[in-house]
This record gives sequence, C-alpha cells and structure tokens, in this order.
Amino acid sequence: MSERRSSRSRKRPKPLALDVRVPVEDQSYPVIVGPGSLDRLGAELRQRLAGARNVAVISDTNVEPLYGARARKSLSDAGLNPITITIPAGEASKCSTVLFDVIEQLLRSGMGRRDAVVALGGGVVGDLGGLAAALFMRGIALIQCPTSLLAQVDASVGGKVAIDLPVGKNLLGAFHFPVAVLIDPEVLSTLDDRNLGCGIAEMLKHGALFSADHFVQLIAAADSLYSRDFDVITPLIATSVGLKGACVGRDPWEQGEAGKGRVLLNLGHTIGHAIEAASDYELAHGEAVALGLRAAARVSEARGVAEPGLEAAMTSALAALRLPTDLDAWLGGEHGEAIERALSLDKKRNAGRVSYVALVRLGEPTVLTLSPREVLMSLRETVTSAASDEAASAD
Ligand SMILES: NC(=O)c1ccc[n+]([C@@H]2O[C@H](COP(=O)([O-])OP(=O)(O)OC[C@H]3O[C@@H](n4cnc5c(N)ncnc54)[C@H](O)[C@@H]3O)[C@@H](O)[C@H]2O)c1
Repeated sequence: MSERRSSRSRKRPKPLALDVRVPVEDQSYPVIVGPGSLDRLGAELRQRLAGARNVAVISDTNVEPLYGARARKSLSDAGLNPITITIPAGEASKCSTVLFDVIEQLLRSGMGRRDAVVALGGGVVGDLGGLAAALFMRGIALIQCPTSLLAQVDASVGGKVAIDLPVGKNLLGAFHFPVAVLIDPEVLSTLDDRNLGCGIAEMLKHGALFSADHFVQLIAAADSLYSRDFDVITPLIATSVGLKGACVGRDPWEQGEAGKGRVLLNLGHTIGHAIEAASDYELAHGEAVALGLRAAARVSEARGVAEPGLEAAMTSALAALRLPTDLDAWLGGEHGEAIERALSLDKKRNAGRVSYVALVRLGEPTVLTLSPREVLMSLRETVTSAASDEAASAD
C-alpha cells in the first residue's frame, strides 16, 4: 500500500521534445542553353549524379523518334544505362493511368533511388515525367530536356510538375526541382509554327511583365524566330528563361505575397484559360494566352492602372508575332457566358477573389482584386465605347 502511494506520488518525467531538423538544402539548378546541348546530356548527368547507373528517358511518340537516339547515345557514351519510356503525344497523357504506367515501367526496369529520369519533350512530358520522378521511391533525380519552345522558356523552369484531373488541369502535382535543365534550341527546327507561336506568346508575357526591352526585341525578331535563326533565337530563349527564373527564384514554392511572386506569371492566363475552355480547346493554350495578354492590357487601361495606348501596343506586338488578336470575338454571346462561368469557378477556387494580373506599363506588373463581373465589364465597356467611337466617326 505504501509502495503504491509512493509510486503515485512520484513525479512523471517531462515529455521529451525531439527536434527534427530539416536543413534547407540548396536546390538551385543550372539551365544550360545552347545548340548541341542535348549531346551533353550524359556528361552533365555524370558530373552531377555520380551514383546514377540507370537513366529513364521519358519522351512522347513525336519526340522520341526524332531525338531519343541522340539522348540515349549521349548517356551510353557517359557509361550510363538508358531506358526508354514513351508516352502518347498530347495533353491527354497527363493523367493518372499514364502516370502509373510510367511508374510501373520505372520499377520493372530496375531503377533505384540513385538513378535518374530525363524528361525529353514538351511541357506534357516535362510535367508527367517530372511527377513520376517526384513520386518514384519518394523522389529521384530529374533532368529536364525541353523540346518545345513553351517547355524551354516556361514549363521546364520552376520545378512545378503535375497531371490533370477530370475536374481541371494540373490539379495533382508537386514541386520537384530538376538537377539541371538542358535547352537545345536546334530541336525547334522540327517543331511546327503553331506550337512555336505558343512559346513566343509566353516569351512576350515575360517581356511584358519584367522587361520592356525583351518585349521590343521579340517583335523585332519575329521573322528570325519563325525562320529558326538560332543565332537570334538562342539569346532570346536565354533572356526569357532568365526572367522567369528570377521570378520563381523570388518565390520558389508559390507562397509569395500577392503581387510579389509567381502569381505574376498568370498575366494573360485568367482570361486565357477561360477562352481556351470556351473554345473547347480548339485554340491552343498559347493562342488563348495571346488573347489574354490583350485582355490584360485592356483591363489595365479600363481600371485606370495604365496609360492609354497599352492595349494598342500589345495588339500590334501580337500581330507582328503572328499570334491571334481577335479578343472581341470571344466576349459576347455564348462565348462570353462561358468565360464568365470559368472566371466564377476561378473565383471559388481562390476564396472569392480573382487576383487579376495587370500592367502599369510594359515591364511593370501589378495585381488587382476584381470580381469576375468587374473583369468582364472592363473588357466589354471598352468594346462598347470603341464601337460608339467608330459609329461617331462614321457619322
Ligand atoms: N510546369 C509548368 O510550370 C508549366 C508551365 C507551362 C505549361 N505547362 C504545361 O505544359 C503543357 C504544354 O506544353 P507544350 O506546349 O510543350 O505541349 P506538348 O508537350 O503537348 O508539346 C506540343 C506538341 O509538340 C510536339 N513536340 C515537342 N517538341 C517537339 C520538337 N522539337 N519537334 C517536333 N515536335 C515536338 C509534342 O509531341 C506535342 O505534339 C501543358 O500541359 C501545360 O499545362 C507546365
């Protein structure tokens, strides 16, 4: 009895507080831009991942026959064991079925934790291959070898990887920073003009956001871009990557305050996504973004953020770069309603607000908080006043 009492009165030890430390690793990575850089894949990989033996080259049915053998040769020359995984070309491949199939192929090929994935292709391959690398064995090394202009200047830089879900695009994803990005502009010689234009729209966006000089240089280089003059294209790609890279470097995990971080990269995308959906995906993403850039310029003027003339400058840049400009065709009737629905959905996902990226001037962005109706009114008011100006001048 007395023993029991003494055990009860004994002081309980203090709970232990364990400190689990997560040292912040330097996750910086080089982006190597230059003709022939695809042939340096094996050497770059060897240099950065001494323990790698197997390297899965994930590509799509268009890109693999064009560049798969070069990538594999470069890897074998460096003493690595290349494994080929090819997915069907197109956005539909960014789904769970293809993702799990790719992961199963990684397992069956005997890939281990120290091995690596190379994503050789456009943004679809980069996003899906990147997510497979992020998930396989809780994450293995990833090297991005983007082959479309959009993937070179945009999708491969920033570490976002994802697949689509039936309810929306890019909804299942991760941040998985690559070990390196290798950009070989010469592969653009086989990319069709329409896809090239989609990449140009994103480059123009980077200029509009962060560098009026880049914006102007792109317009001047329009013919050289479409004739694949690599002496002109290569430094423009490097500048565009530098501008995006600086932005994502300020806000790697997209946590930045509104107006300061990656959210700015949505310039042209609020209306762009809505138009893309309203077109039933007949417009390519970059084409819809081009219209979204014009919309952003118009809203910036209508809300009094920018001086008059910004929309005219944007429209003539888009036209010079052979991108669509017919925004007004998408604002009325059924299309207009579809856009309003898409904006409302956007609003729901973002706690009742649409953070609309606008421009004070070329090279100087700002973020406005607007309701979907305010966005549409700003777009349509200008149409109405432009139409009544035209009517007045016709009188
Ligand atoms: N992760 C990000 O930060 C980010 C950013 C922007 C876009 N994305 C994603 O990127 C995807 C769009 O990328 P995309 O436009 O590259 O699409 P894509 O990967 O479908 O490529 C477009 C087409 O070009 C072909 N192709 C690619 N390179 C080629 C080459 N050198 N020669 C011949 N054909 C070639 C492809 O096979 C495909 O048919 C979307 O899924 C989008 O969500 C991701």
